[in-house]
Amino acid sequence: RHHVLSLSDFTNAEYNTVLQTAASFMEVLSRRTKKVPTLQGQVVANLFFEPSTRTRSSFELAAKRLSADTLNFASATSSITKGETILDTAKTYLAMGTDIMVIRHKEAGVPQAIAAEMDRLGVRVNVLNAGDGQHEHPSQGLLDLFTICTLLDADSPQIELLKDKKIAIVGDIVHSRVARSNIWSFTASGAHVHLAGPPTLLPKLFANYGEDQPGKLFLHWELEPALQDADFVMTLRLQKERMTAHLLPSLREYHQMYGITHSRLELCKPEVKILHPGPVNRGVEISSEVMDDPKFSLIQNQVSSGVAIRMALLYLIGSGKS
Ligand code: CP
Repeated sequence: RHHVLSLSDFTNAEYNTVLQTAASFMEVLSRRTKKVPTLQGQVVANLFFEPSTRTRSSFELAAKRLSADTLNFASATSSITKGETILDTAKTYLAMGTDIMVIRHKEAGVPQAIAAEMDRLGVRVNVLNAGDGQHEHPSQGLLDLFTICTLLDADSPQIELLKDKKIAIVGDIVHSRVARSNIWSFTASGAHVHLAGPPTLLPKLFANYGEDQPGKLFLHWELEPALQDADFVMTLRLQKERMTAHLLPSLREYHQMYGITHSRLELCKPEVKILHPGPVNRGVEISSEVMDDPKFSLIQNQVSSGVAIRMALLYLIGSGKS
């Protein structure tokens, strides 16, 4: 695989290669030195045309842990503000010797367009999608999978560990690229995935979605059937920046109907774990008490897993070039 743009075409063998590689990097990260020389001499450019805290910083840290040189771009402080196009920006970074471009944009399809341009130019640049509009966020989908699988088997995380588990994904699904990547990987594992949220924030058309996937996908307008006996609950932020005003519910009403609280968790399996890709709006999609409760919350584990997963992705697509 040359680029990582989507999880829709990932095979279970590929998932397991990423999971096992990330597990070995978790071991590297537990050492005192935390660094390997694998990508020495390579250049990783983080091209972020939309804000980010954890994805940008963890890709940068992952590249540094692999001994690559890093370039960080944020559109607000770049020549995009003077009218330079996205493709010209990418070609500028290519001319500086970039080997791997990590791209985030508010429009779906931008990383794909840059990857196609790099392929058309015949250059050996790898493109990683760090979140494109409402489409996908593959590295987040992989780190969520890794977080769950390492909880089930830290020594040998494999996608098959999720078979027949019940996973609820709750909230603003329709605007969530994370949910779309989660749905591909979780249903590929054979898990039963239950989407729950207000009707205006659920996808309308799910016919044939992943019909070849081993797992099953269910839609609920109410929270309770999704939470009942769930093994894992993924909560999602209301993405106000992608909503027209009439879609935005009252935050208090939303929390009353769909917020994850300790009392609602009583519907789930006793050992249920809660995930959230971040950033979190405390007291809206999840109560502060649940978010900070180490008995349930895997949110900090997700962030830590993100560094190992991004090291694995950079290593798997970037090694062999130096
Ligand atoms: N989960 C996620 O993509 O977070 P950031 O927007 O902070 O990168």
